[in-house]
This record gives sequence, C-alpha cells and structure tokens, in this order.
Amino acid sequence: MGPHSLNVKSFFGILLIFAFLTCFAIAEIHYHGFVIESKPVKRLCRTHETVTVNGKFPGPTLEVRDGDSLVIKAINKAKYNVSLHWHGIRLLRNPWADGAEHVTQCPIRPGMSYTYRFTIHNQEGTLWWHAHSKWLRATVYGALIIYPKLGSPYPFPMPRREIPILLGEWWDRNPMDVLRLATFTGAPPNLSDAYTINGQPGDLYRCSNKETVKFQVKSGETILLRVINSAMNQDLFFGVANHKMTVVAVDASYTKPFTTNVIMIGPGQTTNVLLTADQPPARYYMAAHAYNSGNAAFDNTTTTAILKYKSTKRRQSSKPIFPQLPGFNDTVTAIAFTSQLRSHSKVDVPVHIDERLFITVGLGLINCPNPNSPRCQGPNGTRFAASMNNVSFIFPRRNSLMQAYYQGQPGVFTTDFPPVPPIQFNYTGNVSRSLWQPAPGTKLYKLKFGSKVQIVFQDTSIVTVEDHPMHTHGYQFYVVGSGFGNFNPRSDPAKFNLVDPPERNTIGTPPGGWVAIRFVADNPGIWMIHCHVDAHLTWGLAMAFLVENGVGELQTVQPPPLDLPRC
Ligand code: C2O
Repeated sequence: MGPHSLNVKSFFGILLIFAFLTCFAIAEIHYHGFVIESKPVKRLCRTHETVTVNGKFPGPTLEVRDGDSLVIKAINKAKYNVSLHWHGIRLLRNPWADGAEHVTQCPIRPGMSYTYRFTIHNQEGTLWWHAHSKWLRATVYGALIIYPKLGSPYPFPMPRREIPILLGEWWDRNPMDVLRLATFTGAPPNLSDAYTINGQPGDLYRCSNKETVKFQVKSGETILLRVINSAMNQDLFFGVANHKMTVVAVDASYTKPFTTNVIMIGPGQTTNVLLTADQPPARYYMAAHAYNSGNAAFDNTTTTAILKYKSTKRRQSSKPIFPQLPGFNDTVTAIAFTSQLRSHSKVDVPVHIDERLFITVGLGLINCPNPNSPRCQGPNGTRFAASMNNVSFIFPRRNSLMQAYYQGQPGVFTTDFPPVPPIQFNYTGNVSRSLWQPAPGTKLYKLKFGSKVQIVFQDTSIVTVEDHPMHTHGYQFYVVGSGFGNFNPRSDPAKFNLVDPPERNTIGTPPGGWVAIRFVADNPGIWMIHCHVDAHLTWGLAMAFLVENGVGELQTVQPPPLDLPRC
C-alpha cells in the first residue's frame, strides 16, 4: 500500500466524519456509567458511609440538549435495592425508564445493573434525577439540565454563567435507618439535622464553614441560578442577600419573568432565576430555610452558600450580608410567590374535559388493636398514614405494576381507584375522627389514550392541613387554579386560567386548600402521582394512572428492554 492510497483513504475518512457530523450534530447520544456505591462523606463533624453515584455527593450533573438521548448504565454496588428516576422527563411510551421502584420496574439488586435509555422530547430547562427506592434519594440525586437545541436561544437575555443550586436535606444517621425506625414505630421520621446547598450545610452548622459553597460573580454580570429542591420532606424559602431574582422558568417550562426577593420551592420542584450582580462588591449569603405549612415539628435550621464579588480592591474580610427570609409559617408569602407564575406565552390548555377527578390528599391515622405496642407510636397509640381519596397506597412486592400489566399477571393491582372521595365531608373543617383512618390498597385509575383530564387535589385538615407537593410521573400539567378551603365545582372553575397557566410536574396544595391541574393523557403506561414529601409517600400518599395504549405503534408502550430487572 503506497502513500498515495493511504491519502485517498484518509480523505474519504474525513469526508465520512463530516457527513456524520452534519447529519447528527443536532441530536447527540450521551453515555454515562452511574455506579451506586457507598463512600465516606464527612458532614457535621462526622464521617458517614453514604450511598452515592460515582462517589459524588450530590451526584453528577447531566447536561444535554433538547432532542438528545441518554444511555445511563446504573451499576448497583451498594447493599440496598435501587432504581433511578429522571424527575420531570416525559419518557413518551417508555415507562421502563421511569425508575419508580415496584411501579415501572423491579429494583436493581445489589451486584446487578440496568441501563436506562430515553430521549428528550420538546423539553428544556432544569430537571433532576434521584433514586426512587425507599429513602436513598436523600443522598442519591443530581441535576439534569436540558439546553435548547443548538442555535435556539433562551427567551431571556443570555446569562454570563449558570449555576445549579441543589437544596438538600442531611441526616446525621443513615437515612435508610431513619426510614426503618419510622416504619417500625409508626411515628413521624426523625427530623433532618441540616439543609444543604450543593451538598454543603454552610456556615451556620458545626464543622461546616470550611466547606461552605462559594460562587464568584463579576460586578454587573447576570447569572442564571437553577434552583432544585431535592430535600426529602420540606418546602423551602430561598433568597440571596440584597439581590432581587427574576424568575424565568419552573420545572423545565418558561414563565413570564417577574422579580422577587424570595422564592418558595417544594420538594421536586425547580425554579430558574436570573440574578444581576448590581450591588457593591462584597460577600452575600444565599440561604434557605423551611416553609412549614403544617402543624408539625420541622427542621428549623438554615443552610447558606456565599455569593462573592470578584474585587481587586481591599480584602472582603467583613462577614457576608445575610438575606431576610420569610417566617417559617409565612403562607401568605409562599402563596403570593406561587400565584405569580404564568406560562411564558399563551398555551394550549385542554378545555373539553373527559375525565374529572376530585382527589382528597392528606394524612391519616391507623388505629392499632394494641395501642401500647411499640409499633404504634403515633398519636394516642396509632400509626401515621396518608392517602388519596382515602386509599393509602401499598407498593406491590412480588412484581412491578408495569411488568404485571404487560405480562398480564393478575392480582397485583386493581383499577378501581375512586375518582371522588368515598364520603363527602367538610374537607378543611373540623373532620370527625371516624374519617381519619384510610384504607390500604394498590388501586390504579384507567385513562383512555388521549383523554383530557382534570384533577382537583383537595388538601384535608385530617391531623393537619399542609402543602402537599403533588408530582406526576410521565406528564407535565397546567395549573389552572387554586384556592383556600373546599373546592367549589360550581363557582371555582369560572376563575380558572385557561390562557397562560404555568406548566409544571410538581405543584403544592395550598395548606387547607385545593389546586386544579389539566393534561392530556397522551403517554401510555403506568405512571405514579404522589406527594413528593417522602415521609408522606412512605405513608401511602400516592396512586397511579394506567394510561391505555391508543392506536398504532406511536400510541403504544414500547417493548421492555431485555435487561429490565425482574423481581
Ligand atoms: Cu421526583 Cu416519584 O419522584
């Protein structure tokens, strides 16, 4: 082979690479290995064997563009069963990648692996991923950032820099043990010991200030903060001292911009804000603490990070300036923030509704035959529970719902989830004790492909009123209305926003109120709806939709991947 033929060969090679690049530059496939493994992590003066992904806490940030595909091989080297959920991704016809343990897959056992494969369809913004088995998500989580397609801009001025802000919750003991204890006693789980920003508690906690997260800004520049509430159980207020924030997106959906001093963000939600460094060069705290909407104990500590102006002048030795956060129970501020959210432009909200569901959400208490039992440490010898329309969701053990459905295995679930509460009562009034005990069940609700669905989530005052951040798997929805007290089907729908309601994947019920959502059931499969407060999910605040296949391949669930774990 002479040098001449070699040249021709490499010429064709280069030509081929060019052809490949022009065809596929638009959509990429991202391959990742996620090794779930215990690693020592030191927080609050102590080292813990912490379940992580690739030894990182928080886990790796995934960065993709709209239209890209992800192939993530999850290798379980931990001692627990695990599954991974891509929170907010639509996963069209692909429930097999949803990662909800015992709902869309059996768990990945220790020593085993499973490859999640999915494509991003028409989504951009901030989402995240987390473990969806037991309480592993306390430490197994990370950001999932979707940039617009190449060449398409943000609907706001391009920020100089973008920073993910993962708000988390840290326990001084193994979160799996916290769960185990609570499951045994029936009492509420132990409170967390710290909140964290990108895994670090910050200056206000013991043994933490050396590692406090710091972000540098240049005077005058505008940055984008992608705030994610990955805390297990707590709504949070978040603010930056002396700086206003302009909200531009929530849950990977653009909003009409508005400025605010503080945001309220529930577990599962994300909020993108622009921040302009327009203050005198100094150091400013970012801080988050609880918004506690219910009548229960909560972790009242405050996590901080530092926004630091680059300055050539004198050293900034003075203490960082602290932001004013609302009081812990400031529902007025929380609701005022949430109710300002609007979609960026006019949206296509379903108007002719096929399926109207009215679902009570809230806590409950299970009476014990022996109230003195160590297993009945709830109020007056009971066990805590939670329910939707009085059904307290029980996860199947023998199989996953989706696998049982696909294989036609009977006896794993029923499809009689009630579309209205079994008994009508004054949901937010003084509820008779006889209505406090929910009934356990694995009940799904069937939806025809393409049906237009409205759900009103009605908080109850059983045990306590509370903001329940309701999350839908496989779907985004429009938040068309909300209010305090009981939903009134005659007068409230007239006030719905059918023009530019915000589109989300997680929305909180106002404490002692209701929230109405709409969506089109265009994604076949079994998809959970649950409260993203993990304590409540543990107690059964969940249900699932079984969305039937439509007509033809494009409206039918894909066949399961060959490596889908079996129970
Ligand atoms: Cu982010 Cu089912 O959860």
